[in-house]
Amino acid sequence: MKLSPDMWIPPIERKPEGVPKIVALGGDGIGPEVVEATLRCIEALGVKLEISRPIHGTDAVKELGNPLPDETKRTIDAADAVLFGAIDTSIGNAKAALLYLRFDLAMYANLRPVTSVDCIPSIIGGDNTNLVIVRELTEGLYPGREGQLADLTSKWPEYRDGRGNELPKDGAFSLRVMTPEAIERIVKFGIRLAKHRKDKGYSRGHISLVHKANMLQIGDGLFVEICRKHIEASGLSYDEIYVDEAARRLVAEPQNYDVIVTSNLFGDVLSDVASEAMGGMPMVPSAAIGDTGAYFESCHGSAPDIVGTGKANPAATILSGSMMLSYLGETEAASRLIDATLGTIRSGIKTGDLGGSATTDSFTDAVCERLG
Ligand code: IPM
Ligand code: MG
Repeated sequence: MKLSPDMWIPPIERKPEGVPKIVALGGDGIGPEVVEATLRCIEALGVKLEISRPIHGTDAVKELGNPLPDETKRTIDAADAVLFGAIDTSIGNAKAALLYLRFDLAMYANLRPVTSVDCIPSIIGGDNTNLVIVRELTEGLYPGREGQLADLTSKWPEYRDGRGNELPKDGAFSLRVMTPEAIERIVKFGIRLAKHRKDKGYSRGHISLVHKANMLQIGDGLFVEICRKHIEASGLSYDEIYVDEAARRLVAEPQNYDVIVTSNLFGDVLSDVASEAMGGMPMVPSAAIGDTGAYFESCHGSAPDIVGTGKANPAATILSGSMMLSYLGETEAASRLIDATLGTIRSGIKTGDLGGSATTDSFTDAVCERLG
């Protein structure tokens, strides 16, 4: 299957005027290594970008006692796009930058494409997988609305659960919030992507709505009701799948999915499962798009155990860079970047996770050579 950047991201009418301003946030662990590798590839493409690297994350905590200084926020606010590395969620508040992008700047539509790549054997799904998970990124369980049950029950003593029982007094709670606005905008984005993929002949334009409304009757009940209304009006075909069954089908038959629209936690888990159809997490790119900005990052973590060893596979971040170029209207360059990345892997130059012996640098050199 010939991969094209607009299989993964629909055209966005937001081409910047002049040289696009990019903020590179390497983050922690291998994040800075894979981000710099990606920027090298973009340079080799000859695409002009104005790149800034403001201080953030653990460095900023050490130097300034603040993981996301105001100056860094201002630089992010003024940018056309952010290229993100990875964060180490085990280090205090180092994830502040990610939370700022997701929750304060509302980059809500998280696109996680998983596409079979001919040169990478996958342990699931044969060679026809071509799906995109559209994960809602601003609400659900993730904005950290948590606390002690004793506080909740003392402030809301009359609350009763679905079975008419009081809450226990000892323990903690995590609140899962679903609002009509957030549901509506994510399903509309999913519809736009599915229609675009269908119009271009990339897929049949089918949406799988993944939820757990059999148990989360009110929250996911609302999610399904709103999504159903919009998808039915769009004329696209769709199905509704409980998340547990959806996970099973991702392993058994990922090639039968097209566009999956789902809430935050489910999209987080399912994208890791689905990544195996593309050769694993070091291959899967992502975009998170809002109404006024977007950030791009691989789906993998910060892998602190291999920092500085040259073992990091930069492919997912390079492919995320391709999604960023597509978003910036540089579609031809985006396409060349995908071809060069996969062409490099196809030629046998690959990192250890894919069974090769290339280092982060030698792999990146080989991609740049193809672009030069
Ligand atoms: C992801 C990651 C993040 C998430 C972590 C690093 C906070 O797992 O982007 O999928 O849970 O969303
Ligand atoms: Mg995740």
